[in-house]
This record gives sequence, C-alpha cells and structure tokens, in this order.
Amino acid sequence: MPAISRGEVSYITGAASGIGRALAAMLVDQGGLVIIADINAEAGSKFAAELNERAEKVVAISVQTDTTNWEEQLAGFQKATTTFKRIDYVFANAGIAEHPWLPPFNPETAASRPIVKPNLATANINLTGQLYTAALALQTFERQEIGPSGFRGKLVLTSSVFGYYPSRAMPMYAASKAGVINFMRSAAQYYADKNITVNAIAPNLVDTPIAPDVLFVPFREQKLLSDIQLVLDQFEKLLGDSKVTGQALSISQDNVWTHPADKYMFEENNPACDLISVQIFKLFGDSTP
Ligand SMILES: NC(=O)c1ccc[n+]([C@@H]2O[C@H](COP(=O)([O-])OP(=O)(O)OC[C@H]3O[C@@H](n4cnc5c(N)ncnc54)[C@H](O)[C@@H]3O)[C@@H](O)[C@H]2O)c1
Repeated sequence: MPAISRGEVSYITGAASGIGRALAAMLVDQGGLVIIADINAEAGSKFAAELNERAEKVVAISVQTDTTNWEEQLAGFQKATTTFKRIDYVFANAGIAEHPWLPPFNPETAASRPIVKPNLATANINLTGQLYTAALALQTFERQEIGPSGFRGKLVLTSSVFGYYPSRAMPMYAASKAGVINFMRSAAQYYADKNITVNAIAPNLVDTPIAPDVLFVPFREQKLLSDIQLVLDQFEKLLGDSKVTGQALSISQDNVWTHPADKYMFEENNPACDLISVQIFKLFGDSTP
C-alpha cells in the first residue's frame, strides 16, 4: 500500500545519490512526482531523466542547488512550485561526512603551527543547509491549501544517531545532527496545530557514497551496517495521512526506535522553561499560544 497519494510532490535535497536517491525512486514508484535537488547537477539530471524514461512521462525534474546557498535553494523551490504547483513533502536530506575541523591534537608540534580557523564545512551543509531547506519548506506549506493527505505539507530532515550520541571522531557531524534533531522537535511544536508535521530520520551507518568505500569494508565484514530499505520504511511511516510529528525515527542494524526527547532534570523547572516560549512569542508579536 503506497504511503503517499498519487501525484503528490516531494522536494528532496541530496537526491542524486544514496539515501535521497533511493527515497526519490520509492516515491516515484508510489505514483509521486519528485524534485531532485543536488549540488551535483550532472548526477541529478541523469537520475531525473532515468526516472522519466522508466515512467514514460515527466515524474521528476532536477535542480542544481548548493543547500548552503539561500538564493540557489530559493530558485530550486520556485522552479518546483512553477512546475508542479505545490510541494507536499520536503526532505532536507543533503549532507556530508565529517571533515577534520582542527588539526589532530599534538602538543609537541602545536606551537610550530599557526592557530587555524576551523573547517566548518560539515556543520554548514548539515545544519545551515538543512535550515535553509526547512525555511523554504515551511513558508511554501504556509502559502498552500491542505493537500490530498490532509496536510499543508510535511517536512522530514535527515539526521543521524549521532544527533543524540556523541562521537569522538565526528564533533562537527554530531553537532550538526544534534542541531537538526532539536530544531525538528522545536519546529514540530510550533507547527503542531498548523497542519504541518516535522520529523527526522536518524540512521546509523548505511552503505552509500557518503564516505570512501574503504571505510565501509570492516562494517560489511562485521555486518554492522543498517539496511537502506529499513531507512526507507521509516520515511514511509511519516508520509500520507500520518499524524506523527516531532519524532526522531532511528535505525541501527536491525533495530528501529523512536528516540525520545530529553526531559527537564527537575519537574519544578517546567513552568520556567514553558513560560520562556510564551514570553518570546509576545516579544516577537506571534499570536501562537
Ligand atoms: N550513509 C550514512 O551512513 C548516513 C547515516 C546517517 C545519516 N546520513 C545522512 O543521510 C544524508 C544523505 O547521505 P547519503 O549517505 O545518502 O550520502 P551521499 O553522499 O550518497 O548523498 C548525499 C548527496 O548530497 C549531495 N550534497 C552534498 N552537499 C550538498 C550541498 N551542499 N547541496 C546540495 N547537495 C549536496 C551530494 O552531491 C550527494 O548527491 C546526509 O544528511 C547524511 O548525513 C547518512
């Protein structure tokens, strides 16, 4: 049974490869229309052409976007709405693996090198890029009527299990994915009464081109990878008439779970933490209760 209604439109960043590509193919198989938004224009347009050829009609378009570039993402959304009239689902999925943000720790040689500016590429793409996509999604949903599945739109962000577990080798990746998780939970609260759902998928390592193939070898040997089909199954749970919002659906090997949000350490802090939202809304002139 398809998760989506025939003709529903999905905008997927990072859809020329890996998880985004598999998701796009699944949605087209279910009768959906997709926008392949990727920095890799060649792979994106080749993939869209393949999907169209297989369907014998236009079911996919590709847009070249660097998700860290607001103007490029805006142009991508404009092309999508001009072509398909509305967007039912947005998947903020584009991301990259860890890049060293600082040189390796070595007190013996540190003094002989200058203090360096950190490389924040991973954080920029995985967090800022996804926030730009989210901002476009939420404002697009706000401007359109409720669709066939009963929602203005649904946003799904691709995080990672390292959005809640620390990783000593991946501080930028973990920081960005944690940012995505807590953004998702906060936005889900804001949009809960506005016919918009916001969720995240949080897989452990999946065999995709995200990292050099050599990195995957011991994972394959020790059967420590998570199956991409299980990841797609979790995306499906969030689509169509699903009312689920504010959830981080996690996958590691054969395990799937809904990762709960942290609670305040002491119950007596609840009123203070909740009153912050009320006061901030007042300050911002937002009528949300
Ligand atoms: N593969 C994994 O093990 C794994 C695990 C957990 C989460 N994730 C997340 O899943 C998402 C997809 O990863 P994947 O494994 O499919 O990787 P992938 O490398 O196969 O695909 C990522 C795609 O994003 C595109 N991209 C990269 N930077 C971009 C940018 N600035 N603008 C637009 N497009 C850009 C790439 O061209 C590529 O097509 C990422 O957010 C990643 O962090 C992956």
